[in-house]
Amino acid sequence: MPSSSTATSARTARKTAPRRSVSKKTPDAIALLRADHKKVADLFDQFEKSRSATKKQQLVAEICLELTVHAQIEEEIFYPEVQVALKDKTLVPEAKVEHQSVKDLIAAVEGVAPSGEDYDAKVKVMSEWVKHHVKEEQNEMFPKVKNSRLDLADLGERLMQRKEELMAERLATH
Ligand SMILES: [Fe+2]
Ligand SMILES: [Fe+2]
Repeated sequence: MPSSSTATSARTARKTAPRRSVSKKTPDAIALLRADHKKVADLFDQFEKSRSATKKQQLVAEICLELTVHAQIEEEIFYPEVQVALKDKTLVPEAKVEHQSVKDLIAAVEGVAPSGEDYDAKVKVMSEWVKHHVKEEQNEMFPKVKNSRLDLADLGERLMQRKEELMAERLATH
């Protein structure tokens, strides 16, 4: 889409949607996704240091929630835009396969009581897969996205809005 028409539609949207007036505070797409990555990395660090089963279970619940919502907003909004903008045939398809591997591990630990070595091993492997995946996004995908024509501010706003919706849904049903 030519940038002039994006600017026009953004102006029109601002007139009709007051929510736009707070857009300065919304991080751009890359900043938002990086902040999610950092949050999950910190939670995995806390898990490694934790000795209490209750604390471990609470941290895993938070990790699973964050990762599930993060993966969903990437798959629904970010990846399709990236694929088109970069004419990508490898980065996004590989990222989706990696998401699936992480989701399988989420299913194996979410809501399960921590029960020794197996549980810790699954969380450990999940943290390693996430670390690998995050490295590829931040080192390979994001630099290309930054050099593309994508409107990262607008994309950030859409990601944030969807994230808030999904968080609210999950918190209401869990
Ligand atoms: Fe990510
Ligand atoms: Fe991802």
